[in-house]
Amino acid sequence: MNRIYLDHNATTPVRPEVRDRMLPFLGELFGNPSSAHSFGQEVKPHLEEARQRIADQLGANPAQIVFTSGGTESDNMAVKGVAFAAEKGHIVTTVIEHPAVMQAVSWLVKKGFEATYIPVGSDGVVNPDDVKRALRPETILVSVMHVNNETGAIQPVEEISSITKEAGVPLHTDAVQSFGKLPTRVDDLGVDLMSIAAHKIYGPKGIGVLSIRKGTRIDPLIIGGAQEKRRRSGTENIAGIVGFGEATVLAEAEREQVYARLAALRRRFVTGLEASLTEVYVNGDAARTFPSTVSLSVSHVEGESMLLSLDMEGVAVSTGSACSSGSLEPSHVLVAMGMETVLAQGTLRFSMGRGTTEAEIDHVLEVFPPIVERLRKMSPLTRSQAC
Ligand SMILES: Cc1ncc(COP(=O)(O)O)c(C=O)c1O
Repeated sequence: MNRIYLDHNATTPVRPEVRDRMLPFLGELFGNPSSAHSFGQEVKPHLEEARQRIADQLGANPAQIVFTSGGTESDNMAVKGVAFAAEKGHIVTTVIEHPAVMQAVSWLVKKGFEATYIPVGSDGVVNPDDVKRALRPETILVSVMHVNNETGAIQPVEEISSITKEAGVPLHTDAVQSFGKLPTRVDDLGVDLMSIAAHKIYGPKGIGVLSIRKGTRIDPLIIGGAQEKRRRSGTENIAGIVGFGEATVLAEAEREQVYARLAALRRRFVTGLEASLTEVYVNGDAARTFPSTVSLSVSHVEGESMLLSLDMEGVAVSTGSACSSGSLEPSHVLVAMGMETVLAQGTLRFSMGRGTTEAEIDHVLEVFPPIVERLRKMSPLTRSQAC
């Protein structure tokens, strides 16, 4: 069976060009870039070249680029690092952030910081005026993600940045889902801190960046060495870093062309779903949604059952629910958009990538409606409705 991968927001396969570029660093180029001898010194330029490549993509100075272990660490560093430097204060964030931001903020609240969580409309988008109203003299950070991982909703980061600039408050954006897919130049977005990760753009897992604008007050989370100008200690993941640099350049070279193609595929997919199924809802406003993502809520069926049935057909997707300790919790993002719990639990996320083809989408359009019909017939949700 040919398998179809439609979970690119979760992760992507490493491109062969990226893997080839990384391999010498898992072999003969094994030196520690901090070592003064030739083994270390032959590796160091590659570290700096990757830093430059990523900085160029962000329109940043290479000195702004701090390598981390991925998006989660970058988010934690942005939120906690600014809080640690400020020692006390108020943070503004949104109800739709990735848990890496969300839980970092709630952890700080337990330690005595204050937080305001900005709501979203039914389109999953934050209103910049709400951010403006939430600011206080003691606000130390605003953190608003660029593209939501569950719905693909693009947030108005530029508008928010004109508000934070006027107030003199640093702005962080989690751009893990947008980097390499949308323009993410830090000056154009007006952000002071930006989190990105390689594995969403066909690079390796376990490597990310926090871009930090010069002058931003931030403490390191990980100390104990002088790496990354003392902002993030630990011997560098050089293979990962080189792979991230390569993936960045490759992604940019094809970005516009790939996402124009995916926008057409998304339209084909959504039209096909709406034509073959009743009571299905595509979440978000198409004009404000990044084209690779389709968040689909299906009435009277559980997301997990659809996911498993699709998996048996070789189609990999994810649900809109976080499955914790055996109980299905509806996604905080969908609930924040005003969706009823039961419909939120019937949500699937299809996320396409550079290799997704029209034939794959057509195949899903063929196998998915019968799955929904079959599950609806068996569903206690349908039966209780009928009673
Ligand atoms: C928006 C967003 N932020 C942060 C992360 C975490 O990144 P990582 O998996 O590199 O730790 C993800 C990954 O799913 C994400 O989608």
